[in-house]
Amino acid sequence: MLSLQDVHAAYDGIIVALRGVSLEVPRGAIVTLLGGNGAGKTTTLKIASGLLAAERGALSAGRVEYQGRDIARHSARDLVKAGLAQVLEGRHVFPHFSVEDNLIAGTLVRRPHRRQLEQQLEGIYQRFPRLKERRRSLAGFTSGGEQQMLAIGRALMSEPKLVLLDEPSMGLAPLMVEEIFEIMKALNAEQGIGFLLAEQNATLALRYSDFGYVLENGQVAISGKSADLAARDDVRELYLGVGRGAAAVRSAKSARSRRVAARQSIASHSLDT
Ligand SMILES: Nc1ncnc2c1ncn2[C@@H]1O[C@H](COP(=O)(O)OP(=O)(O)O)[C@@H](O)[C@H]1O
Ligand SMILES: [Mg+2]
Repeated sequence: MLSLQDVHAAYDGIIVALRGVSLEVPRGAIVTLLGGNGAGKTTTLKIASGLLAAERGALSAGRVEYQGRDIARHSARDLVKAGLAQVLEGRHVFPHFSVEDNLIAGTLVRRPHRRQLEQQLEGIYQRFPRLKERRRSLAGFTSGGEQQMLAIGRALMSEPKLVLLDEPSMGLAPLMVEEIFEIMKALNAEQGIGFLLAEQNATLALRYSDFGYVLENGQVAISGKSADLAARDDVRELYLGVGRGAAAVRSAKSARSRRVAARQSIASHSLDT
């Protein structure tokens, strides 16, 4: 359904982010992109969703296909219409809108009729009972987990075939992360919605996905079926925090991710308000 072939990408024409990434997301599959900060996960998702240009990024070589068509020059809006929706890293909800108005904002490219809209909202509330409880609350006053659910719910309002989901687990408690991954799994199993999931939580991401790609320095270092990756010693040692040396890797990674999270929260505030 989505395929990247030998994709190279850079920001500002000089900061090279991807150096020849090839990957496939088959129809109805959950595929995960693993890798530490700066590996190129977000850039890969933005290439697929047409959002790279907004950050002065560009494809410098390679091909991006969605449903057999070259989409490298398509706008984000056209891609959403074609069924490709992105949930950005750091959950960008509109804090001064109610939960329900945030959901309705997800339909703007489709503009459904009132009845249709109500049915769609009902569908989301069935999947996310927490959002139904909070429907009248301002999104800015809901918890991190609820905001992540809201960001996913809003993407679902565009009736996507494939959702590009960027680090949904970031900053959330483990139980909340599992709740969100369970909902993703149900959406996949019951509605056939595909997911390309960028994650640093490799253990969970491999458990909930069909295929995985490990990015390192803008390249695919390892790829395969998720169950096979989870069993490999090198993957376990480097990404699952199992084995010798893993603790050192983990602590270096978490110090980095705290810095990045802080930077992102500043950036998202200036975008949202
Ligand atoms: N907007 C941007 N402007 C300049 N460089 C960027 C931008 N976004 C990401 N990069 C750089 O591109 C590389 C890949 O980043 P990214 O795709 O965000 O990785 P990940 O999501 O895996 O953390 C990093 O070196 C990062 O510093
Ligand atoms: Mg990222």
